[in-house]
Amino acid sequence: MNKKIFSGVQPTGNLHLGNYLGAIKNFVELNNDDKNDCVFCVVDLHAITVKQDPKELRDNIRETVATFIACGINPEKSIIFKQSTVSAHSEAAWLLSCVARMGWLNRMTQFKEKAGKDKEKASIGLYSYPILMAADILLYDATHVPVGEDQKQHLELCRDIAQKFNNDYAVDDFLKVPEPLIQKEFSRIMSLKDGTKKMSKSDLSDLSRVNLTDDKDLIINKIKKAKTDPLPLPNSLNELNARPEAKNLLGIYSSLTNFTLEQSINEFSGKNFSEFKEKLSQVLVEKIDKISNEIKKLNTDKKYLDQILLDGQKKANDISSYKLKKMHEIIGF
Ligand code: AMP
Ligand code: TRP
Repeated sequence: MNKKIFSGVQPTGNLHLGNYLGAIKNFVELNNDDKNDCVFCVVDLHAITVKQDPKELRDNIRETVATFIACGINPEKSIIFKQSTVSAHSEAAWLLSCVARMGWLNRMTQFKEKAGKDKEKASIGLYSYPILMAADILLYDATHVPVGEDQKQHLELCRDIAQKFNNDYAVDDFLKVPEPLIQKEFSRIMSLKDGTKKMSKSDLSDLSRVNLTDDKDLIINKIKKAKTDPLPLPNSLNELNARPEAKNLLGIYSSLTNFTLEQSINEFSGKNFSEFKEKLSQVLVEKIDKISNEIKKLNTDKKYLDQILLDGQKKANDISSYKLKKMHEIIGF
């Protein structure tokens, strides 16, 4: 079966190793398979659920496109576009917000985390964010959605919304219920400073993450300073599970080299961290330095990046406006 792939990344800067290993690496593999139709969206409407500086947002949008290309997505094969330029997304989000239930949204853990203690002050957009995400996916009849582990709950909500729309309007299979594509292992890359916290764009410490724009020296320095524990590397998976920092670093190594965690444990068991970190830095530099240089090069070619978005906009608009029109007919407009 041909797969229809849809995914989105927020243009909020600092794209990092977690984004790469959790999501973008998978986008590239899906893009390389001729049997797939892929759509990758720069979700700027999602980005403004928290305050953004307009100039930075504009730069981050282009940098997200540059990152897609630098990582290996081919704009001739995959549609790459900016969410705000295709109005069907906002419109479908409204239609679906009349299908989604408050009770469903109230369970979303990402909102609780992002809104923090003072929920009264969170934007309405931050709360209804997963409905817009459902609109993104459902407008393209996506069959598969590659994302990191943190988006699993939003995808379950998207499936519920699709099913309820189909039931409410008795249109069996009109909205396609998508499957999440989440890596089995290493789907959650953790902070270099705290193995129990997700690696995140918004962490105040730049030492907590490897950015995809970091150069060789910076990467080596960050790995040198990455938190470890005093023991040598473990002999077994069981032992590793109780040591979050060791598990994260070995996970990053495994994901980059396409080894299983067991293979990496065997390679380093009993060795000390300094020896392992040297090897880890080496594979990281090999992968990320190339990407980083390419992003920097592409960033200077604004025209090229804008043209990719413009081409993508036309294609995305054709697909999504057709689906939106059908939704209108079904609803009775
Ligand atoms: P965002 O930057 O929040 O738009 O995320 C883009 C993609 O990267 C999503 O599919 C996320 O699930 C994924 N992602 C973000 N942070 C991590 C992480 N620390 N580990 C694995 N995947 C991640
Ligand atoms: N919510 C996703 C994130 O923060 C980004 C996103 C928006 C997305 N729309 C999407 C991901 C549609 C997959 C499909 O990472």
